[in-house]
Amino acid sequence: MSAAPARRPADLVIFGGTGDLAMRKLIPALYHCDRDGLLPSGTRVIAMSRSGLGDADYRDKVRAEVSVPGATPDDWRRFLTRLHHVSVDISAGVSAGGTNAGTGWDHLTALLTGGEERDRVFYLASPPMTFGPFCRGLGAAGLVTPASRVVLEKPLGRDLASAQRINDEVGEIFSESQIFRIDHYLGKETVQNLLVLRFANAFLEPIWNSLWIDHVQITVAETVGTPGRRGYYDHAGALRDMVQNHLLQLLCLVAMEPPSRNDREAIRDEKVKVLQALRPISGTEADRFTVRGQYTAGHVGGCAVPGYLDEPGSTPPTEASGRVETFAAIRAEVKNWRWAGVPFYLRTGKRMPFRHSEIVVRFKDVPHSIFPGGSPNRLVLRLQPSEGIELHLMAKEPGAGEVALRPVPLSLSFGQAFQGRVPEAYERLLMDVLTGNPTLFMRRDEVEAAWQWIDPILATWETAGTPPEPYPAGTAGPDGARELLGRSGRTWHEEEPA
Ligand SMILES: NC(=O)c1ccc[n+]([C@@H]2O[C@H](COP(=O)([O-])OP(=O)(O)OC[C@H]3O[C@@H](n4cnc5c(N)ncnc54)[C@H](OP(=O)(O)O)[C@@H]3O)[C@@H](O)[C@H]2O)c1
Repeated sequence: MSAAPARRPADLVIFGGTGDLAMRKLIPALYHCDRDGLLPSGTRVIAMSRSGLGDADYRDKVRAEVSVPGATPDDWRRFLTRLHHVSVDISAGVSAGGTNAGTGWDHLTALLTGGEERDRVFYLASPPMTFGPFCRGLGAAGLVTPASRVVLEKPLGRDLASAQRINDEVGEIFSESQIFRIDHYLGKETVQNLLVLRFANAFLEPIWNSLWIDHVQITVAETVGTPGRRGYYDHAGALRDMVQNHLLQLLCLVAMEPPSRNDREAIRDEKVKVLQALRPISGTEADRFTVRGQYTAGHVGGCAVPGYLDEPGSTPPTEASGRVETFAAIRAEVKNWRWAGVPFYLRTGKRMPFRHSEIVVRFKDVPHSIFPGGSPNRLVLRLQPSEGIELHLMAKEPGAGEVALRPVPLSLSFGQAFQGRVPEAYERLLMDVLTGNPTLFMRRDEVEAAWQWIDPILATWETAGTPPEPYPAGTAGPDGARELLGRSGRTWHEEEPA
């Protein structure tokens, strides 16, 4: 599944090209694609923002702020010549058929004119409220060609209604086949390997069901808090920020039926069916099957850190700040024949003890054990910090006397097995956009089905009138998260006895 080179030169317009996402992820990913020879000569990256920078200033900014391990001066020189910058204030609008002189749109139009045959990608790495105005601006300026695509970054709305509004606004200018909704988790090697593991090996699929699997855990744990970001986070929270997109996408890939083809629609069709089969959770069920928490002061990695309400560099906390969850855990169920009775535990949080993202598939106990001290097999797919797959099997401890068992991992580390650099998710996904392959991007019905499931949970939480459960920074979330599994005698992966 290595990335294919682009077939012809492209113009990649990054709206929000001076922002954190562009500078930390997109520009380094494009640098790597260029160094690996995946960008045809003549491919341009046109960054847009309100900053007033010229091309040379933007190139200096990138050179000063972007660090890429192992980068050579020659590679930098070639890559920097691809970069351009256009200043535009989206709130200034654009007039259809007008000159738009001095708005920035005229500058973009001048740069793109004459390249109508080239692939044209508009990457919206800017706040979601700018998506509609930006697309309208592109439409009015006549910049959307048949070979154009648009990439939408998360968050796509804050509930079903707002997601539909954004989809409608973008859909006025771009057809669904031109819209690439990105979830960078889908570009990770392990996530793509999950499909290969399941559908290119014969041994797993027969036991990939409720007869053999006890439960599945999906965890995305971060050590970072939200310093300086309360303004954003008060209106988001962990459920919107992580569960609605990343965790549900991972759940889909674990739970989906084998698609009939490795093809953009076949895979996405199967993912949608999983989302549609999720058992709705609302009202009193939300109290039993969901947990929300907010971190208080504590220690992470040996350093003292403040609680959410005292994070520095933000606007003062409001009533909304006290209600927002920085941790969420959910017991989900997929109502179909394959998964009946198998809980999918989803968990994400900030200021957790260590940063890790993983999927743990916990198999059932052996039906009759003749050895003392065994524990069920588990398959662990690690996404962060390093990517790899481990199958934990029971083995005999070496030595004479009583047979003693110990779980031993059969381990596949991508870094070790495939020597060399493991490409970042954004590299893969940017190349997929440039080559027009939407398989790893979310379709409109997927995003909306995810919101449809999330909305009743949000509504219950918002009307609950009780604050999230506090948990000290540096711990694995509130007690309620342990109880969520503990009620059925289960534990989270890192709490399992070795
Ligand atoms: N940062 C991440 O790791 C990350 C990850 C996933 C998704 N995202 C999403 O990606 C988007 C961007 O995130 P970010 O962290 O990069 O934000 P950011 O650092 O605040 O950058 C926003 C960018 O958009 C530009 N911009 C904003 N309003 C504009 C306007 N009215 N007209 C023209 N340009 C405008 C800004 O440039 P000027 O202010 O100079 O105009 C800047 O380049 C957000 O929706 C975020 O949720 C971010």
